[in-house]
Amino acid sequence: MSFRFPDEFLWGGATAANQIEGAHNADGKGLSTSDVQPFGSFGELKQRQAGDFNLKDTAIDFYHRYPDDIALFAELGFTCFRLSIAWSRIFPKGDELVPNELGLAYYDKIFDELEKHGIVPLVTLSHYEMPLYLAQQYQGWKSRELIGFFERYARVVFSRYGNRVKQWLTFNEINISLHEPFTGAGIPRGSDSQSLYQGMHHQLVASAKAVKACHELIPDAKIGNMMLGAIQYPLTPDPDDVLAALQENRDWLFFGDVQCRGYYPSYMTRKFKEIGVSLDISEADKEALKETVDFISFSYYMTGCISVNNKSMQMTDEKMLAMGKNPYLETTDWGWQIDPKGLRIVLNFLYDRYQKPLFIVENGLGAVDQVNEQGEIEDDYRIAYLNDHLYQVGEALQDGVEVMGYTSWGPIDLVSASTAQMSKRYGFIYVDRDDNGQGSLARKRKKSFYWYQSVIKSQGENLRAPAES
Ligand code: BG6
Repeated sequence: MSFRFPDEFLWGGATAANQIEGAHNADGKGLSTSDVQPFGSFGELKQRQAGDFNLKDTAIDFYHRYPDDIALFAELGFTCFRLSIAWSRIFPKGDELVPNELGLAYYDKIFDELEKHGIVPLVTLSHYEMPLYLAQQYQGWKSRELIGFFERYARVVFSRYGNRVKQWLTFNEINISLHEPFTGAGIPRGSDSQSLYQGMHHQLVASAKAVKACHELIPDAKIGNMMLGAIQYPLTPDPDDVLAALQENRDWLFFGDVQCRGYYPSYMTRKFKEIGVSLDISEADKEALKETVDFISFSYYMTGCISVNNKSMQMTDEKMLAMGKNPYLETTDWGWQIDPKGLRIVLNFLYDRYQKPLFIVENGLGAVDQVNEQGEIEDDYRIAYLNDHLYQVGEALQDGVEVMGYTSWGPIDLVSASTAQMSKRYGFIYVDRDDNGQGSLARKRKKSFYWYQSVIKSQGENLRAPAES
C-alpha cells in the first residue's frame, strides 16, 4: 500500500480481564458474573461449587505473567494496549463504600509496566462482567441503584489512575445486552423488553455519568463508548428488505445515538410504543445524558443480511449472533462472515453519522492453530484476514475518516468469550493451554507476530491490496 497511516495512529491489541487474568479470587476479588459462566457468555449459568472446573479461573495467568506479556507487546511495537478493569477486584460486591486496596494496587503495577515500555493504556470500565452480588441482589442493571455504584467505581479508578490512563471506554459492546442480558448487564435471562430497555437506560445514564466524571477528574483524558459494530445489509433491493435492514441497524445505532448526541433518537418513540415499552426517564436522567462521549469505539468481526420475504435466506451457524447469510462472503470456522470491505463501510457510515473520531478496538480471526513439527505456528490465514481488514482501514483513512487507532482482538491467545474455549485462538502469541486446562502456559511467537510487527513498523505501508495477498 503506498499509503502511510498517520504518525499518531495507535497500534495495539485488546483484551478483557476475565479472559486473560485468571486469579479469579486472589487479593480480595469478589466473584463476577463471568465466574458463573464457565461455558461462555451464551452458555448455561452455573453457581460456583468447590472443585468445579472453569478455564477462566486461571485463563492465561496474565495476573502473574503480565511483565513478560507486556514485554512481548513492546517487542511487537505496540503503542497502545486495551485492557479492562475487573470491577469485582475494586469493589468485590459492588455496593461497598470503600474499595479493595489490593485490587487497586494490582492495576497500578500493570500501568507502571505499560508506562515503562511506552505503551498507552486504553481501559474499559466494564467488559462483559460485573460483581456477581449485584446480579444476585439487585437483578443487575434492571435496578436504578447500579447507576450510583458504577459512578462510585468509575470515580475511584479515574482518581487513582488518571495520571497515567488518558483513554477510557465505558461499557463493552453495550448493545449486546439486547441479545444476551446477563453477560454485560447481569439482568436475568428471559426478562421482558420493558426490563431490558429500562436496564439499558440505566446503563446509558451511568455511561454518561462516567463520561462527566472523567472530564472532571482527568481533564486531559478522552472517553468513548463501545458498540458491537455488526452492520446488516439488505439481502435484496426490495424496499422491504432495505427498510428492515435500516430498522435492524437502529437496534445497535440507538446506543451510539444516545451516547454521541445526548438524547434518545425519535425513532425509538415509535418503537417503544409498538413493543409496549414505557421507560422511567427522569429529568435528571435527561440532563445526565447530555454529557456525550469524545470518541466512538467499536468491535468489528462480521456483517449480516436481512430479508423479509426471501424464504431462501439462510442463517449463519453461530451460537452468539446468527446472521443472515451473504452469498458473497466466506465464514470463519465459527460461522462468522468475513467482510473486510464492510469495515471500510462501517467506518464511513459511523463517521458520516456522528462526525466523531473512531477507534477500532476489536477485530480478528478466531481459528484453530497447529504447532508443526518444528514447533512453529504458521498462521497465514490470520495474516491474510488482518491484512485485508487493515487495508480497508487505510482506505477509510484516505476517505477522510478520522480513525484514532486499531487494537486487534486477543493479541495473545485467551479464553473465548462466547464459547469459553482456548482453542478459538486470536493471538500473535501462542499460549500453551487447551480447552481442558492442560498445558504449560508457555508463550510462543507465531508467524503473524513478525507480520504485525512489520506492519506497525512500516505504519501500514507494507499492507497488501487484497488481490495481491
Ligand atoms: C467481542 C467481545 O464480542 O468478541 C470479546 O468483546 C470477545 O470479549 C470477542 O472475546 C471475540 O469473541 P469470542 O467469542 O470469539 O471470544
